[in-house]
Amino acid sequence: METIKKSRKGTKTSSFGTTSRVNHDSSKFYDTKLYSELSVKNIDNSVENIFPTELENKILLGNSENLAEIPDNSVALMITSPPYNVAKEYDNDLSLTEYLTFLKNVFCETFRVLINGGRACVNVANLGRKPYIPISDYISQIMLEIGFNMRGEIIWNKSAGAGTSTAWGSWQSASNPILRDIHEYILIFSKGNYKREQKNRENTISKEQFMEWTKSIWAMNTESAKRIGHPAPFPVELPYRLIQLYSFKNDIIFDPFMGSGTTAIAALKSERKYIGYENNLEYIKLAENRIFEMKNH
Ligand SMILES: C[S@@+](CC[C@H](N)C(=O)[O-])C[C@H]1O[C@@H](n2cnc3c(N)ncnc32)[C@H](O)[C@@H]1O
Repeated sequence: METIKKSRKGTKTSSFGTTSRVNHDSSKFYDTKLYSELSVKNIDNSVENIFPTELENKILLGNSENLAEIPDNSVALMITSPPYNVAKEYDNDLSLTEYLTFLKNVFCETFRVLINGGRACVNVANLGRKPYIPISDYISQIMLEIGFNMRGEIIWNKSAGAGTSTAWGSWQSASNPILRDIHEYILIFSKGNYKREQKNRENTISKEQFMEWTKSIWAMNTESAKRIGHPAPFPVELPYRLIQLYSFKNDIIFDPFMGSGTTAIAALKSERKYIGYENNLEYIKLAENRIFEMKNH
């Protein structure tokens, strides 16, 4: 395990532990053989194109494999939860290869529309048991192939909420016990630079929120599909935390699978703007109703 040595000039990576990371010199760690084949993928073009005002706060009806309306390098943050392809009412019955190709198309387009330094956050659960399908691993791999730099992953601890599986497998027996997932993932990536310039930009996160939300496990309740009227909504808290942590005030927040509009609601609550795609007109109407209700209460 990496540990850190303190000196008056700061800290250095060492074999023994310390509690502080203030002023840490991590060059020894990044000079190790482990990192010799891994480099930060930089973007040469750091031009930020102006996001068209007529697209601000809109949900477009269409297939997000093609984001033709959105200019290159114009969006600050993408947050999404993709369709799971598990026979929910909106899912196509794709093979695993077809499904991963579909996601790759969407995330390639996402890469194109993000600015240099823009972030992409993908909320996903793993699926099945025989075998367990580590969709989160496949997505991380796809994102790296596209050229994203990975920042980390958040485990969403859903245990406080209801609705977890009750399949035990072999009860109290090593014969075939089945794990019941009480978590989902939020995978976090950057296009190009890890860092965004803060000049002339405003943060909105409080000290307490920053302390809590930079930890890699988040406890949040799930949202009720029945209450929202959509088969798989995430709670507003999920995009809200990501927006506070990873974007500045007035940034454009993008969701290629807008569903019931949760990302849009979190963006407006945070004084950001949103753009989204959704291929089901009924869900767009539902999202617009939710946004209207939120604005008028
Ligand atoms: C997991 S849901 C997103 C739920 C959303 N986060 C919310 O809180 O309501 C995925 C959504 O993607 C939509 N969808 C599926 N395929 C799509 C495609 N090719 N283009 C755009 N939207 C699509 C589905 O109709 C569904 O509403």
